[in-house]
Amino acid sequence: MENRNLRYDIMPEIAAHWSPRAFDENQPVADDDLFALDEAARIAPSCFNEQPWRFIVARSPESRQKLTACLSANNQLWAGKAPVLTVILAKANFSHNGKPNRWHTFDTGTAWGYLSLEAQHRGLITHPMGGFSVELVREAFLVPEDYSIVAVAAIGYYGNRDNLLPQFQERERPNPRKPIDEIIDIY
Ligand SMILES: Cc1cc2nc3c(=O)[nH]c(=O)nc-3n(C[C@H](O)[C@H](O)[C@H](O)COP(=O)(O)O)c2cc1C
Repeated sequence: MENRNLRYDIMPEIAAHWSPRAFDENQPVADDDLFALDEAARIAPSCFNEQPWRFIVARSPESRQKLTACLSANNQLWAGKAPVLTVILAKANFSHNGKPNRWHTFDTGTAWGYLSLEAQHRGLITHPMGGFSVELVREAFLVPEDYSIVAVAAIGYYGNRDNLLPQFQERERPNPRKPIDEIIDIY
């Protein structure tokens, strides 16, 4: 974590969080752990308390294969080994008045953040992906048109970095972050 240059003593789950690709294909995620992650997401705050997030969880070999086939070629090379793949959806319109919810992806991102930190807390790893075909996912999992398909993510346990293809082994480390003064403007 040396390239994160932490100056403050933040929550250990946040400090230690990164996005590995070396999933252990032989270690499943127990029901209690998986549902605890979804419980963490469930508690996230949202505009009008709409809770627009929805998760499709692919655990069976058939479902994981179906979802892996929707990923970009590069992501297919490593993500198929994760014991859990999830599609993160966000309902685009408010339930109370049917009007567009401008914050649906913002709120869903918060829920994903909660989920991934609970995963970190439980010794699991997570890796979100934008590299997938929205059209293929919509078709394969019959996602209604009023749901935005925000991301796909892999969830599981850390395996062996040496099992990754060489191009991923080089990248198998926490990435650096911008310094604080590049992300805030104080007036
Ligand atoms: C919305 C989103 C989309 C991403 N898409 C991909 C992807 O398609 N493939 C991939 O390997 N990593 C993907 N990542 C992972 C990022 O590259 C990673 O989070 C970032 O480089 C920081 O790395 P670190 O958390 O491991 O330090 C994505 C992350 C996010 C949040």
